[in-house]
Amino acid sequence: MGSLLIKNGTVVTATDKYRADVYVEGETVAIIGAQLEVSADREIDASDCYLFPGGIDAHTHMELPFMGTHASDTFASGTLAGLHGGTTTIIDFAIQTQGESLEAAIREWHKKADGHAVGDYAFHCAVTDFNDSTRQELVHVINEHGINSFKVFMAYKGALMVDDRQMYELMQALVSLGGIVTAHTENGDMIDSNIQKNLQAGNTAPKYHVLSRPALCEAEAAGRAIDIAYQTGCAFYIVHTTCEETLARVRAAMSRNQKVHVETCIQYLLLDDSYYFKAGFEGAKVVMSPPLRKKKDQDALWAAINQNLVQHVATDHCPFCMDQKAMGKDDFSKIPNGAPGIENRFELLYSEGVGKGRIGLNKFVEMSSTGAAKIFGLFPRKGTIAVGSDADIVIFDPQAKHTISAETHHMNVDYNAYEGWQVRGKTRTTILRGTVAIDNGEALVGEGFGKYLKRPPFNPLH
Ligand code: URP
Ligand code: ZN
Ligand code: ZN
Repeated sequence: MGSLLIKNGTVVTATDKYRADVYVEGETVAIIGAQLEVSADREIDASDCYLFPGGIDAHTHMELPFMGTHASDTFASGTLAGLHGGTTTIIDFAIQTQGESLEAAIREWHKKADGHAVGDYAFHCAVTDFNDSTRQELVHVINEHGINSFKVFMAYKGALMVDDRQMYELMQALVSLGGIVTAHTENGDMIDSNIQKNLQAGNTAPKYHVLSRPALCEAEAAGRAIDIAYQTGCAFYIVHTTCEETLARVRAAMSRNQKVHVETCIQYLLLDDSYYFKAGFEGAKVVMSPPLRKKKDQDALWAAINQNLVQHVATDHCPFCMDQKAMGKDDFSKIPNGAPGIENRFELLYSEGVGKGRIGLNKFVEMSSTGAAKIFGLFPRKGTIAVGSDADIVIFDPQAKHTISAETHHMNVDYNAYEGWQVRGKTRTTILRGTVAIDNGEALVGEGFGKYLKRPPFNPLH
């Protein structure tokens, strides 16, 4: 592997901002300094640009088999789209099929990703059926597969949902093994009852998705999971947090000295529930769970980011094309849940966050990269620009303007929920492990370039 010198950029990490040249040897950062006098195989001028650590999206679902279909991005198309936008690493969910082993799920996910992903990837393991035999697998999953994070779903009964006893016992088991539990917190039983009542009343349009899943269903489940985690002492992370009510449960936990890790997603910061009330079938584009909330929840989430209550802004990237969404044309509960976002998250968070004065530059890096790297054991290999770290670097032009459109995006999906949005700030070049992966919109790496990332057991002090 060769060497690369990035000159005249402004390095921004979660804590620092300074002008420097960055010299990369092979896959890692070797020297950072002012006006470096070193020669390299390739030199890139980054004047007037920021150098950000490559984005990490800790919540994606490539090729997820779900609700009678499959998420439309493969590991190849989805991670490539991520690279275009500035995301160099994803953590996807290897989801156990009920009645089968964790090992089978991990094997299946490796089959989808290995030799195909263009960007780097790790896996969380989603436990949908916790029993004596699954319990026996945990040590192997952590120590051999390098997976330290285990997801439970508190909704989607009959497919993915676990009951409280399973969650409780999983958490108990993971305390001494070095695992963190992440949870989709929605009260599945309340939601299923609401869905049934709506359908019985002939309410079939997409708007009944949000009307069946009120914020309190999310907050109740979050509070319950937080309490169970507290009782067990297990490290705990809430995925795709959407609302003020859930944040209140997290604040209450903090006041008893509990640490709760919180993720939100870019769509919950930028889109609101009025989308479901658009004419026709438009609302199906944002049928995801939990659903979009109100403007006041967006304000609460931005505030929680600045209060250090939220550690990561992910996407829950789970795209379905409109012909797949049409499975729920006459029944909102059959619309596959999920939406695209991996390509737009990084630039939208910069434009709407930093550009509109909602967050600072360092906070942008923390939310888009460092926070997830620290929680999930990827730091400092990923999540920062430092000597010895992987050279995952985004050369970002803060002045470049562009418009989001499904016509030009690289995600394998035929709509974009941000269609027509004007974005200020653009990923000009994405470098992954020292290789220029994307340059001015051109992909220079291909299928199989991405590497699987093993992670060490969870360390609460990181
Ligand atoms: O609607 C969503 N979020 N689909 C993906 C699965 C999940 O719940 O994360
Ligand atoms: Zn979920
Ligand atoms: Zn998800």
